[in-house]
Amino acid sequence: MKVKIGLFALISFYFAACNTPPQNLRKAADRNDLDLGFAVHTSFFNMSADDPYIELLKKNANTLVAENIMKPVYIQPEQGVFHFEMADQLVDFAQANNMKVRGHCLVWHQQIPYWMNDTTFTREELLKIMEKHITTVVSRYKGKVKEWDVVNEAIDINEPDNFRRSVWYKVIGPEFIDSAFVYAHRADPEAILYYNDYDAEGMGEKSNAVYEMAQNLLKRNIPIHAIGLQSHFTINQIDLDAIEQNLNRIGELGLLANITELDIGIPADSFSDQALEEQAKSYGQLLQLILDKTNSTAFIIWGLHDGLSWIPGFSEGKRVAPLIFDPSLEPKPAYYKLLEIL
Ligand code: XIL
Repeated sequence: MKVKIGLFALISFYFAACNTPPQNLRKAADRNDLDLGFAVHTSFFNMSADDPYIELLKKNANTLVAENIMKPVYIQPEQGVFHFEMADQLVDFAQANNMKVRGHCLVWHQQIPYWMNDTTFTREELLKIMEKHITTVVSRYKGKVKEWDVVNEAIDINEPDNFRRSVWYKVIGPEFIDSAFVYAHRADPEAILYYNDYDAEGMGEKSNAVYEMAQNLLKRNIPIHAIGLQSHFTINQIDLDAIEQNLNRIGELGLLANITELDIGIPADSFSDQALEEQAKSYGQLLQLILDKTNSTAFIIWGLHDGLSWIPGFSEGKRVAPLIFDPSLEPKPAYYKLLEIL
């Protein structure tokens, strides 16, 4: 009898051990064939290799994106002078740790150097500038950076034609978007090319405008492959059904639809354990949505821990704690929820 019980205990222990979820998100994401990871903060570039931030990244990400340092203002601060030191550092780190890198971003109206943001350039001149920037950056990381946010935030529904009046639009016209995708595709034909935007995750005027633009690009054979849904959310304001509908219609266009900059802020005046649970629930629901869709492959969180999130500054302190680790790098309920779902 004793032997039987002993054997039973051993077998149950064996099965329990097999079913124990891996204690990090990376392995769990790998098993699900999901690109999961974080925007890497600028302070990363001064950290020593054994910094807890880096340890945490290695355990929990199979994909990285630079929060800032691949933006034009960092890469080409002066015309024709390219600085790749930090971008190289990130790409080397990712390669050494067998991680993917998303490139963010090539053409945007913000975080471009002063010299580039100049409407006195002729159309020809600015197209050349754009071509040179895209070609230089994308070629350098060909085969290493698998995907690029080629155009970021070009839609503004307050304009009659829905296009933001950026320097690119003003000087080149809306065709700057076509050209940006074509230049990126020429520089790395294998790269997955994204249009990326905010407030266009669910159904609404802005996501309609993004959808129509993408449809239009496809009709004209412009090489676009994916829509990035930035997903800077606030708890209790996420319409999952609308996001699902949007993912579906983007899928019907034959494009990937991925979450590229997720954070879920908590209103500072209602921060509580319950709010953290609500946040965890939303992280989980969004992850489940991405796992369920065949045209969704990535779930990228905009920062590793609450101590380094851009949200409190951006919202003037009104929204806080939007990420899955707290400022002491301890996992929050949202982390456990993601692990549970994976
Ligand atoms: C933000 C960074 O997180 C901040 O550190 C920086 O000061 C401003 O940009 N949409 C984007 C991202 O595409 O590049 C932005 O990142 C957040 C909004």
